[in-house]
Parts: sequence; structure tokens; C-alpha cells
Amino acid sequence: MFLYQKKLQKEYQDDIWGILCMSEKEFIPPLSERDSTTQQSFSGEKANKRGLAGYYQQMLQQEFILAVEEEKAIGFLSFIPDHFLKAEGNEFVCDYVTTIVVSHGFRGRGIAGKMYHTLFENRKGKSFATRTWSTNYSHIHLLKKMGFELVALLPDERGVGIDTVYYFKGA
Ligand SMILES: CC(C)(COP(=O)(O)OP(=O)(O)OC[C@H]1O[C@@H](n2cnc3c(N)ncnc32)[C@H](O)[C@@H]1OP(=O)(O)O)[C@@H](O)C(=O)NCCC(=O)NCCS
Repeated sequence: MFLYQKKLQKEYQDDIWGILCMSEKEFIPPLSERDSTTQQSFSGEKANKRGLAGYYQQMLQQEFILAVEEEKAIGFLSFIPDHFLKAEGNEFVCDYVTTIVVSHGFRGRGIAGKMYHTLFENRKGKSFATRTWSTNYSHIHLLKKMGFELVALLPDERGVGIDTVYYFKGA
């Protein structure tokens, strides 16, 4: 079951926190080392680290798509609706996906794809964007399959040979 929640309901908050704790080190850089869900730059000194709890608190201000099985959330996508995004001189107003994770045991079954489709269905007429790192092959494969296009690339921003890449899908 896939749900759209403008505000993450209490009954799913522990599930989402658990998924975040289990997966945060898969991200480059880890989510606990970021200063916000929309951090401007990944190069240079790590400033103002808020830790994972700080990242989670920011996510709670955002909207959610949940994948639910047997009354438990096993994946989520968080997004900022109608966000003003600046990327390498380009500017977009879009629904901006800040975080997407599917729990380990449930990957490779099309769940992330279905969460994106649930987002598109519930936010008809909107443009969408997200960013990731260039070696996140499964996410990039999925984004291209769903019609997202690469609109900005910041070379080596996440480490040597690991670029920040922005993907956009127009209305
Ligand atoms: C990225 C993520 C959300 C994908 O979730 P998922 O439910 O497994 O994704 P789906 O099953 O919908 O689709 C994955 C697609 O990537 C493909 N894929 C998997 N590994 C791949 C790889 N190494 N290279 C290319 N494609 C790959 C799968 O075959 C599938 O495509 P297909 O449907 O055409 O066969 C999940 O891997 C995850 O939670 N990763 C950790 C967190 C993360 O990286 N989030 C994104 C950060 S921006």
C-alpha cells in the first residue's frame, strides 16, 4: 500500500526513524554529517553538523510518500512541495525530493518506483527534482526510467570521482 501524507502520522514515525538509522551510512556523505536536507554545498569543511536527529526533525517538516506492508512503513520518500531550487545557475520551482529509502529486505521489487509514481499521481501538474551522487547507480537508473533528466553536475563534490548530480522532470 502506498500513502501520501502531508504530515507524517505518529503511527509511522518510529518506522521512518528506524529506516533512517539503518540506511544513513549508505548515503554519501552520511545523512548524520549533513547540515540540512537541502545543504547548499558538500565541498569544504563540514559546518554546523546537526546529526541524524536534526536531519530527521527537518524531514518531519516535509511531506511524505510511504510504502506500507502489514501496517509497517518499509520505505519512504520525503519532499518539499513547491520548492525554489537553485542548481548551477539554473532555477526551478518544483517538488523537491530530499530523501528516498527502501528497507534492505524490500529492495529490487519496484517499491521506490511505485513511490515516485504515487508522488506524480498526487501532485499532478508539478515539476519534480532531486539530487544524488553519481555512483548511486540504482537511484539514477530509476530516475532516468521515470523521465528525469540530468540538469546539473558538480564534479567531485562528494569525493574524488563522485559528483553531485541534479535530476529534473518537467510538468
Ligand atoms: C535507491 C533505492 C531507494 C531504490 O529502491 P528500490 O525499491 O530497490 O528500487 P526499484 O526496485 O524501484 O528500482 C531499482 C532499479 O535500479 C536497478 N538497479 C539496481 N542496482 C543497480 C545498479 N547497480 N546499476 C543499475 N541499475 C540498478 C534495478 O534493476 C531497478 O531497475 P528495473 O526496475 O529497471 O529493473 C534503494 O536502493 C535505497 O534505499 N538505497 C539507499 C538509499 C539511497 O541511496 N537513496 C537515494 C539517495 S539520493
